[in-house]
Amino acid sequence: MSRKICFVASEVTPLAKTGGLADVAGALGRYLHDRGHDVRLFMPHYSTIDLRGQTPVAVPGIQQVVAHLGSRQVEFSLLSTTLPGSGVPVYLVDCPQFFARDSLYSNAADEHQRFFLFQIAVVESCQRMRFQPDVIHCNDWHASLLPLLLRTRYAWDALFARTRTLLTIHNIGYQGVFPASTATELGLDATPGLLDAGELSRSSINWLRQGILLADGVSTVSPTYAKEICTPEGGYGLDDTLRARALPALGILNGVDYDDWNPEIDRLLPHHYSADQPGGKGKLKAELQQRFGLQRESDVPLAGIVSRLTAQKGFDLLFDTLPGILDSRPLQVAILGSGEPRYVSFFTSLVRRYPGRVAFHTGYHEELAHLIEAGSDMFIMPSLYEPCGLNQMYSLKYGTVPVVRRTGGLADSVQMWDPQSGQGTGIVFNDFDGPAMQWALSTALDLYGDRKTWSRIMRNGMTQDFSWKIQGREYEHLYERLIEPG
Ligand code: ADP
Ligand code: GLC
Repeated sequence: MSRKICFVASEVTPLAKTGGLADVAGALGRYLHDRGHDVRLFMPHYSTIDLRGQTPVAVPGIQQVVAHLGSRQVEFSLLSTTLPGSGVPVYLVDCPQFFARDSLYSNAADEHQRFFLFQIAVVESCQRMRFQPDVIHCNDWHASLLPLLLRTRYAWDALFARTRTLLTIHNIGYQGVFPASTATELGLDATPGLLDAGELSRSSINWLRQGILLADGVSTVSPTYAKEICTPEGGYGLDDTLRARALPALGILNGVDYDDWNPEIDRLLPHHYSADQPGGKGKLKAELQQRFGLQRESDVPLAGIVSRLTAQKGFDLLFDTLPGILDSRPLQVAILGSGEPRYVSFFTSLVRRYPGRVAFHTGYHEELAHLIEAGSDMFIMPSLYEPCGLNQMYSLKYGTVPVVRRTGGLADSVQMWDPQSGQGTGIVFNDFDGPAMQWALSTALDLYGDRKTWSRIMRNGMTQDFSWKIQGREYEHLYERLIEPG
């Protein structure tokens, strides 16, 4: 049945992206649209947005709308466009004083105001368009006050009487925590009793907690992560809140957009290949070596990394292990990423120590991300925690064997190679420590040395299917359960 879905995300591929949330918003949006749903994406109109040449149009009747942020009044306008290459409607909340900045997120003193305005604008826009969503799908903390807003400030509006809210947690490490004074400042405590009683007695207000408490449904991005966030180790302080909700967090593994991430048709690659015709992969390895200034060696294994460089991603495990491996075995490493200085200086020091064998490109670069996925032999993701992770699924499709830690979505999407059965798609290690990392890298290099086995692992991965055709259905079922429970 066709449903009206208001899909709210702070980033959407290809318009604005810092990580996997954008890929999910763009691809799931497209899937839902193709399935005949009236899905409308809402995101901020960042000045850095890449509209691929499209000019957004001002939505009549939703210009210079005054939004009340507590006693402060801020104007926003709504612009509309479509996801490039599709008919998916995208609404951009235009408010230059908040969104004309160098980066999507910041530590600025008004960060809470930026994303509060965003959410107010979503509701006010639905009202003015007379768009009556069956489901408002809120993603991460930037959208997690919407359930509260619908129950307080906008409770009077019959337009939303049948609207259900779904909160999807993409990363519980980011919660949107602001000083308690901001609740009053934004007018959030105007309806007594609705803001979590304990919340105001704390010194801060936690937006994600509000979403978990008040959304009609809560989901996250893999079955294993759904379990992990209900434990003290994985919940980052919100496990008790999650457990207290009668409905357990539901895990739906992310899908992959194989229009963008497929070595047979990848628009960002100069050569193509498939499981049956793998020849192009060798050419792409040579291309990658050339672009990154690595020695032109076709038989030396090349490991790739594409990542935000944060503690979540587990690169601390490489500090004590990777130099030893590089000293004792043939291996090249190509890294693309940006983030915390300690990882930047570690990778920079490796480049100095192993010239021609280790290369590091800092910054965000879409084309190089695709080239690393395609041209590498293996892909390293030793995450401390990983709600889902997309790169390991991209790697599988590109015949780039993932070396991952058994956590979150990595555990759900990569199977350890089993020589007995010939099954398995990668190298999976359990413990978050140096010896386990060392074992995983050595095992990967040993397996690489056995060409027949390696080809089998590659093929096993390339024939996996993590497309949205499968995962998207799960969201449709979840929407239905929320709309018509029982
Ligand atoms: P997360 O969302 O935690 O960063 P995911 O694996 O879900 O992790 O998604 C990361 C996405 O961001 C992937 O599409 C990956 O290719 C992309 N990405 C990460 N860092 C970079 C970078 N420096 N340049 C280009 N793409 C990047
Ligand atoms: C988050 C997680 C990542 C996940 C992505 C999309 O950024 O860190 O694991 O794949 O969201 O859901």
